[in-house]
Amino acid sequence: MTPGHVPVLAEEVVSMLAPAPGSLQIDATVGGGGHTERILAATDPDGRLLGLDADGAAIARVRARLGPRFGDRLHLRRANFRELADVAPTEGFGSVDGCFFDLGLSSFQLADADRGFGFRTGGPLDMRFDASRGMPAADLLPTLDATELTALFRRFGEEPFAGRIARAIVEARRSARIETAEELAALVERVTPSRAPGRRRVHPATRVFQALRIAVNEELDALEEGLAAALDLLRPGGRLVVLSYHSLEDRIVKRFFQAERRGCVCPPEAPICVCGRSPRVRLVTPKGLVPGDAEIARNPRARSARLRAAERLAA
Ligand SMILES: C[S@@+](CC[C@H](N)C(=O)[O-])C[C@H]1O[C@@H](n2cnc3c(N)ncnc32)[C@H](O)[C@@H]1O
Repeated sequence: MTPGHVPVLAEEVVSMLAPAPGSLQIDATVGGGGHTERILAATDPDGRLLGLDADGAAIARVRARLGPRFGDRLHLRRANFRELADVAPTEGFGSVDGCFFDLGLSSFQLADADRGFGFRTGGPLDMRFDASRGMPAADLLPTLDATELTALFRRFGEEPFAGRIARAIVEARRSARIETAEELAALVERVTPSRAPGRRRVHPATRVFQALRIAVNEELDALEEGLAAALDLLRPGGRLVVLSYHSLEDRIVKRFFQAERRGCVCPPEAPICVCGRSPRVRLVTPKGLVPGDAEIARNPRARSARLRAAERLAA
């Protein structure tokens, strides 16, 4: 059976974006096209959507599936969303009514045994969303010493056994390079306690794989750049909607929205505002939305999702 990708909080995403007929929308992460399809359908009969993905396979898949239905209302481009400020205007989306980000990786990527994203799927340790650029995880690992690996696993994985895992990697590669997802997962499993508190339900390699993937794709930098570009592209009243899957991503989204809601960046001790910046957004979901138990039961990938939405003000 072909693995599919079930879109998370699909109805809520559409209701937060509130896409009107004839509007212009951006889906910065088309993946399997589940959200794209629903957003475009809500803009019937003449709305248009620019869909980006760093992964060429995702673009090809969505083009084949949704191209026949939506024709030239669907513009697809293989690109990193950190390039949104350049890409969107050249595609005719320089001023839009909605922009959506669904972060992380798709079920298609996780299931692809040639990409090394999953410790269960295995395969060569690559982990790049865009396999035409950057360095595969198997090449990145040998460039880092134990201190740097520890910092990486702590910072991007919040991994409690970061030091122990880093030292084991350095030790293991004295005899051979770590080339596959299976090798890395087995090593982590071997050196971490199997029943550490709070870790019973997740595989011990989950955090290490997350950390490496974030590093390989520079995911957190890309997110900051993508959010800033998206807000610049939005018309007043336009919505920015973001689905994140772990606390590092959510923190960036939350802080970005809060800073743009505040506007002024003067230090608190300044007697008057000298920066002259005004608020650029109103929060649509001050605390964010999370999936209910029924959705998590249907789609376990939704478990850690949090949806945040903001509306662009005239400033
Ligand atoms: C969770 S999936 C999106 C699923 C999609 N919403 C759906 O309903 O099928 C995330 C997608 O974002 C892509 N992606 C991650 N970071 C990206 C970036 N910086 N630029 C462009 N695409 C990115 C991944 O390649 C992946 O296909």
